Amino acid sequence: MTSTSHSYLSIFENLQQCPLVPVIVINDIEDAAPMGEALHKAGIRIAEITFRTPQAAQAISEMKAHCPELVVGAGTILNADQLDTAINAGSDFIVTPGTTPNLLNALAATTTPIFPGASTASEVLNLYERGYECIKFFPAEASGGTAALKSFGGPIPQVKFMPTGGIDQSNVHQYLALKNVIAVGGSWMIDANFAAQKNWREFQKSTEAFVDNIVAKGISMKANKVEM
Ligand code: 3PG
Repeated sequence: MTSTSHSYLSIFENLQQCPLVPVIVINDIEDAAPMGEALHKAGIRIAEITFRTPQAAQAISEMKAHCPELVVGAGTILNADQLDTAINAGSDFIVTPGTTPNLLNALAATTTPIFPGASTASEVLNLYERGYECIKFFPAEASGGTAALKSFGGPIPQVKFMPTGGIDQSNVHQYLALKNVIAVGGSWMIDANFAAQKNWREFQKSTEAFVDNIVAKGISMKANKVEM
């Protein structure tokens, strides 16, 4: 396995600048480089490419090669083989939708930053016991949304979350206002129409519109995060 050029600290620093992680499905490998560039120019610091298409590993390599400033990770990692492929492609971090004993063993053997998935208090505690302090909360809306995250914050305030699943522009601010949320992920951040047209100029503008809106509001929220 190759080593990663980004640590947890560097990822957290980038998320402080922009706590939005687009969840990307690449069907056409030619989209990877221009999409990464457009996202980065729009203010996105971190992107997740899901292993839901065979192009995922190559897309990670090409996006990073074309846009080295963008932190690019692998999502929907389900097993040790995908984990190896993702790390060999140069993934800066790994995201899983949930965990199994086999997957946890494989994750424990890597030094690449991991954001393992959980949706219940027991799953969160299990991951915390294993040393994970930043967890993907998935599927966020279907698992209780912001109410569940506030409830986790009572007994387990040390754990921070990156919720995804069912989040969009209508509720993203409510998630980002929570003290235990460090970032929000989602496929809604990718403008599918402009991507399908390969109109990267409009794709960038469309991304900029919500990034500017959310980051501007986030700056005022930082001083006034919701108490749990
Ligand atoms: C993920 O993989 O993180 C989620 O499927 C993204 O969920 P969304 O499509 O509802 O944003």
